[in-house]
Amino acid sequence: ELLVKPGSLWRRVDVVASTGSTNADLAQKARHGAESGSVLVTGFQSAGRGRLGRSWVAPAESSIALSLLVRPDQVASWRWTWLPLLTGLAVVEGLRRAADVPAMLKWPNDVLVRERKLAGILAERVETPSGPACVVGIGLNVSLAEDELPVPTATSLQLAGAATTNRNTLIATILRAFALIYQQWESSDDDAAFGAAYIARCATIGRQVKVVLAADSEVTGTAEAIDGDGRLVVRTAAGRRTFGAADIVHLR
Ligand code: BTN
Repeated sequence: ELLVKPGSLWRRVDVVASTGSTNADLAQKARHGAESGSVLVTGFQSAGRGRLGRSWVAPAESSIALSLLVRPDQVASWRWTWLPLLTGLAVVEGLRRAADVPAMLKWPNDVLVRERKLAGILAERVETPSGPACVVGIGLNVSLAEDELPVPTATSLQLAGAATTNRNTLIATILRAFALIYQQWESSDDDAAFGAAYIARCATIGRQVKVVLAADSEVTGTAEAIDGDGRLVVRTAAGRRTFGAADIVHLR
């Protein structure tokens, strides 16, 4: 049973044993009128989607896949670029609280523990008859053993020595953390304050990074800052460059 405080953002939480992709399902529900604050949780996805056109693979029973639908109608559309970062921050804060793991972010929203990936986030904008909405998906490795990891650079809460791997506890804590951070973001226009909270949990700033761009090219440099739109500012040999969407490798 999910313990989510009434009066918070959440309107309904649906749990299904398995599905293709919770992001795809919730986007479809959004087009049919699902309200802001709808949540869809599953234990297994057969067609999980990842960032930058990749897939997201996680074994049944030892992971969590959930998607949140929000309609930030009061928020200027140019601020929506913060939603993926805000979700990453919520997952980090929730996992630190519930599981006592030293979770950090790799820009924009990969959740790492000791430089290995624990959770991934995919935020997708959806056009619906009642206006644009955002589906935010979170994939969390809960109790995977070393030999179940999809890639060697991944980890799980269990491998990271988490204080709990109870899925209901984890989901409830993540939803609570998201509601708190989202409502603060929605009701203020101070992205700088939010950016500071994000940077405090972002392991990318100050690091030597390789930026892998979708178009098969890479750039290396020092990650210097997050700009007012949540983009990453990198100092390269050729000068400063700003990236809105890319894959980052922490070099050292
Ligand atoms: C990434 O790191 O590339 C993002 C992975 C996002 C996975 C989650 S699992 C729940 C939701 N449904 C999906 O199909 N993808 C997201």
